This record gives sequence, structure tokens and C-alpha cells, in this order.
Amino acid sequence: MSFTVAIDGPAAAGKGTIARAVAAEFGFAHLDTGLLYRAVGRRMLAGEDPVTAAQALRADDLGDPDALRTPEIARAASQVAVIPEVRAAMTDFQRAFAYRAGGAVLDGRDIGTVICPEAQVKLFVTASAEVRAERRLSELLAAGHETDYATVLADVKARDARDAGRATSPMVAAEDALTLDTTELSIPAAVARAFAEVAAKRG
Ligand code: DC
Repeated sequence: MSFTVAIDGPAAAGKGTIARAVAAEFGFAHLDTGLLYRAVGRRMLAGEDPVTAAQALRADDLGDPDALRTPEIARAASQVAVIPEVRAAMTDFQRAFAYRAGGAVLDGRDIGTVICPEAQVKLFVTASAEVRAERRLSELLAAGHETDYATVLADVKARDARDAGRATSPMVAAEDALTLDTTELSIPAAVARAFAEVAAKRG
């Protein structure tokens, strides 16, 4: 039997942390769908056509997730994500993952609205751009990237505008999603709310 948890929201709101925690707690498989777009973004930066790259994406492309977590690749991912053919090329893979036996957690921007509108649990994890920029800055500095708060905040805002403003599958909370705003709510408290929601829906 499949059971799908869809977690959407903007960058650095905490959805990855919540998704990993839910997957570990309930024994579900986890897919960070941002990595798919990042892998296509990386291929575009290397000179490939993004649509061809999306159609040719292989498991190998996601092999080293940390190598995909750079600001340049994040920007490129958000750019290729506006192209309908890129999104279409990766839809079947994401749906197959969502409906696998044993349960799945997918995090991204359009999981509860487009990829898996039938998901049993839908969360929309958000926070103010300023709080998200502070979190992302700490992560980037810890990973050895040279950057500063103003640059990261500008990147966060540009990505929000592009991800929420695109015509195909824009980032938006599903009508039946539970919104967790981690501006005030701590990440551990948000994880606890997510666990409670999953437990209630699983029965
Ligand atoms: O979650 P992330 O920061 O790794 O995502 C990188 C970019 O990929 C994001 O700015 C928009 C795009 N994306 C998307 O359009 N749809 C998804 N389901 C996941 C990511």
C-alpha cells in the first residue's frame, strides 16, 4: 500500500529537515525533488540544453547531493524549473516514487498540487525571507562557501519570485495543506507537528 507525504515550500524553510525526519520516523523512502532540478541546472551550466538534459537524467546525476548544493546550481535549478518540458520529463519518475509500496516523502515546490494531489499528508513549510537567508548563510559558510547575508537574501528573494511566479506548476500551498511557518516555530517543533499529522492520517 502506498502512503505519500508531500512537503512543499520555499528554499531554506526547513522542509528538507522535516522530510528526512518523517522518513526516518515512519520508515518511508525520501526524495528531495530539488535535486532533480539541480542536476539539470548543473548540466545546463556545463553547456547542455536543459530539456535534453532532463530527458537524459540518470541516477548517477544525483550521486553526490552535496556537490549540487551550491548557490550557482540553486540559481540554475530555479531557471530550468520554469521550462514546462523540463518539468514534464521528470513527472513520471516522481509519481512512481510517490506511489511506491511502503510509503514515501517527497519535498519540493509542486508535490501536493501537481505531482501527487492525492497525497494523504500535505505540508507547506515556510518562513520569512530574512530568517531563511540567515539559515542558508550558516549552512553555506559551514560548507566552506564564501558569501554574505545580503547576497544570500537577494538570492532567496529572486528564487522565491521565480518559483512562485512561473506559469507552470508555481510554488503554492495546496488548499488542503497544513502550513508550518518556521519563522517563529522552531524546526524541532515543526517536526513534532509533522509527526502528529502523519500519525493522525495513517490511523
Ligand atoms: O529545493 P531546492 O532549493 O533544492 O530547489 C532548487 C530549485 O528547483 C528551486 O528553486 C525550484 C526548483 N524546484 C521546482 O521547481 N520544483 C520542485 N518540486 C523542486 C524544486
